[in-house]
Amino acid sequence: MTPAGSLLIASGLCKAYGPTTALDGADFSIHPGEVVAVMGPSGSGKSTLLHCLAGIVTPDTGTITYDGRVLSAMSDAERSALRRTDFGFVFQFGQLVPELTCVENVALPLRLAGVKRREAERAALGWMERLEVDGLRAKRPGEVSGGQGQRVAVARSLVTRPRVLFADEPTGALDSLNGERVMQLFTEAARSANAAVVLVTHEARVAAYSDREIVVRDGKSRDMMQELPA
Ligand SMILES: Nc1ncnc2c1ncn2[C@@H]1O[C@H](COP(=O)(O)OP(=O)(O)OP(=O)(O)O)[C@@H](O)[C@H]1O
Ligand SMILES: [Mg+2]
Repeated sequence: MTPAGSLLIASGLCKAYGPTTALDGADFSIHPGEVVAVMGPSGSGKSTLLHCLAGIVTPDTGTITYDGRVLSAMSDAERSALRRTDFGFVFQFGQLVPELTCVENVALPLRLAGVKRREAERAALGWMERLEVDGLRAKRPGEVSGGQGQRVAVARSLVTRPRVLFADEPTGALDSLNGERVMQLFTEAARSANAAVVLVTHEARVAAYSDREIVVRDGKSRDMMQELPA
């Protein structure tokens, strides 16, 4: 299946870790600007799927095509370059650099790409405003709350204007009120940047912010729309 107009398409992904089957023929596709929630029980293969799609983990079999290019046919250097230019990441624990201030953290991907400090921090502050954390610019990650830290991490993931944003339980460490607000700002910001979002979550409440839901079970994926009775 290669849905027309998809930006990222995976078919028949299999991945085993020793005797453990993490993915067992999983399919996936996402359109530009679409927000897809990946749901499913613990251990079902959600993170493995996300890591394969992002080119971090190589599947044993199956094909992943991004913007017409087959990931497995690319060199490691090409895949790394693609991750830097086209992909953004937000994880369960924001993984901010503790020694840097919040604005320096958000500006970091641009600085690594060679953008001058002043320009990088201006762009960083723009995203921090949208995520309502611009007031924290001079603070270090250890001095902000969990929800604030996640919003700073979301700002950092968007600062390079990625075409695909991968988020693995981005609100998993937050209470429900905080998680809801982060998700609201996250999806608004991603939509304003026209980024496609692959969002792994346990929570139906979080999935409500998506356009479409995929359920992973025992390493197999199913589109929720196809499960609805006709
Ligand atoms: N690096 C690894 N080495 C060995 N086994 C792994 C590794 N990564 C994942 N697995 C196994 O693969 C299966 C799928 O794991 P995965 O992390 O994809 O699940 P998940 O759906 O993300 O679970 P959770 O909701 O708990 O995060 C699990 O049985 C897990 O133990
Ligand atoms: Mg996981």
